Amino acid sequence: MQQLSLLDSVVIPDTAQLRAAELRQQLEYHNRCYYELDAPEISDAEYDALFRELQAIEAERPDLLAPDSPTLRVGGKAQPRFSQVRHRLPMLSLENALQEEEIRGFEQRVRSLLALPDDVVVDYQCEPKMDGLAMELVYQDGLLVQASTRGDGEVGEEVTANIRTVRNVPLRLSGEQLPGLLEVRGEVYLPLAAFQQLNQQREEEGEPPFANPRNAAAGSIRQLDPAVVARRPLAMVCYGVGMIETEVRTQTELMAQLAGWGLPVSDQARQVCGIEDAVACFLDLQERRDSLQYEIDGMVIKVDDLRLQQELGEKSRSPRWAIACKFPPRQATTWINEIILSVGRTGVITPVANLEPVELSGVTVSRATLHNWDEMRRKDIRVGDRVIVERAGDVIPAVVKVLLDQRSGAEQELPEPDLCPVCGSRAAREPGEVAVRCQGGLACPPQLAESIIHFASRDAMDIDGLGSKYIEQLISLGLVKDIADLYRLTRDDFMQFERMGDKLAENLLAAIAASKQQELARFIFALGIRHVGERTAKTLAERFGSIDNLQAATLEELTSIRDVGPTVAISIRSFFDALANQAVLQRLKEAGVAPTVEEKRVGGRLTGLTFVFTGTLAHLGRDEAKKLVESEGGNVTGSVSKKTDYVVAGTEAGSKLEKARALGVKVLSEDEFVTLLAT
Ligand code: IVH
Repeated sequence: MQQLSLLDSVVIPDTAQLRAAELRQQLEYHNRCYYELDAPEISDAEYDALFRELQAIEAERPDLLAPDSPTLRVGGKAQPRFSQVRHRLPMLSLENALQEEEIRGFEQRVRSLLALPDDVVVDYQCEPKMDGLAMELVYQDGLLVQASTRGDGEVGEEVTANIRTVRNVPLRLSGEQLPGLLEVRGEVYLPLAAFQQLNQQREEEGEPPFANPRNAAAGSIRQLDPAVVARRPLAMVCYGVGMIETEVRTQTELMAQLAGWGLPVSDQARQVCGIEDAVACFLDLQERRDSLQYEIDGMVIKVDDLRLQQELGEKSRSPRWAIACKFPPRQATTWINEIILSVGRTGVITPVANLEPVELSGVTVSRATLHNWDEMRRKDIRVGDRVIVERAGDVIPAVVKVLLDQRSGAEQELPEPDLCPVCGSRAAREPGEVAVRCQGGLACPPQLAESIIHFASRDAMDIDGLGSKYIEQLISLGLVKDIADLYRLTRDDFMQFERMGDKLAENLLAAIAASKQQELARFIFALGIRHVGERTAKTLAERFGSIDNLQAATLEELTSIRDVGPTVAISIRSFFDALANQAVLQRLKEAGVAPTVEEKRVGGRLTGLTFVFTGTLAHLGRDEAKKLVESEGGNVTGSVSKKTDYVVAGTEAGSKLEKARALGVKVLSEDEFVTLLAT
């Protein structure tokens, strides 16, 4: 027996170790299928299950947490600040060519420095110039050990934990003949779709949007909390090396070598013969610029032969063997004819400029976002202004500058709205926020879908089966104009949907009907009052006991509640003060929506606690004591068990007191009980 348990203690960790290694390998494989090959082989749920299994093993056995574990990709602990890293070889920058002639001038310099005869053609590698943030990764024996930003070229910041969250950066190199030391350089960037989504989210959350994907990437990488970085889908593309032990002869071969080790390289790089082909490549890339899923600001031409690169060498800050050919900026000059207000799905009101249509790198532009009123004031944008617009990764261009010297004096500022342009409810901006929001959440058409999806969701009213797909259809068929309409739907309404059967319609109607008696806390949460999450909703339900009481609560009453600060209190008041919201609440009531409260939950100081009384109490009758406990959310039972929290013992307490002591249950005197109630 003894031997067996010894064996156990050896075998069990090994099993965990093997399983962890297997899971790591599977996860990295599926990661690559998803992010690099765009061909996932398993569902997100299956991936999550594997991921969670590995997380669980590592939580139990921290010794198994390897530096290449995919669980590091969700971000570890936040750090107070970044430490500095001196690059072994400086990270240079590039000289720019703004015109075709300057590209030819570059070739002239290369040829004369190398003293090449006229009949020798130079091969070049043409690569997109990624508009992101330069980064150096260090791999030791194949393992990613350090990542640092370019900084001033000599010293950068150590951002290893953040880079580990970038999904296409291998935590361990794969393939053959791995170098002992590899310093690989490249650009971290945010793909356009992610950039647009991030900016939209930031505007909805009242944060200033990023001006372009590069700023977004740089801002993300400089986050001190890697978990925040993990939620930004950054990507990296490698374009060069620092220190490396390798035999490759050309830049083209080098890129193939890096790709062979699992590092991401550009699929747009081209090897060309002679500078005229490089120019053609540049013009072609410029034309295709808008079809790429990431922002580029030019093309880099590099002498392909690494020996020639070495011969050409470097100037103080840039190599003589490469040049950055910049695209002309996507800017144009036009007029702002009008500024309209657009209301988003979460109620944020965004000023949008209607422009005199203008051609901007092949696209006619007639609208530009002005983001918010702070931005508008900072740039001093007015109706009638002559402005420079730029497309910087966004589909919708932005106004970058007002030509102030072209003002006539007739231009007009647009004040911040105090009413929603769509539903007429009050619009306001919270202190410290940049976004102005419509407060009529329940009755404002642009917010309708979002408010119903939230209302029906699992943690809110939990209307089983009523997801966004049906909700969008109900809205587009005009059957639902606010949440109260849900309770007026009939079987025939649902039968208009495609692929809807009797049973399904009945189930949906039953789920809607069942939600009429949903708990008050969930109902309050379901209303989607800004800043009122599940926890606050629960506190409010316990404190006020009914929606009418909550609706009548003053700011003072609200702020007197623990967890409810002035911002939350103002938000609750604004919500109930909006006439449109009041009308919807009234209609919900008429439709029979009557949220329930368990009596004993009101008050809540003793919520979840179980009491047993024994012996004779000097001042309180048994019934009175019981009511007191229940009015504070506690339970009173007749017998003592392990689940009993307190036994309140009066005089002549008998076996219950003994049992309490035997089980280690806390015993209170009558006075202590009264004190507990009072605190
Ligand atoms: S090579 C020694 N290749 O452009 C040469 N740079 O303006 C170093 N960049 O700091 C750079 N795409 O961040 C190179 N395909 C590419 C690039 C690229 C973007 C950035 C890089 C560099 C900056 C120089």
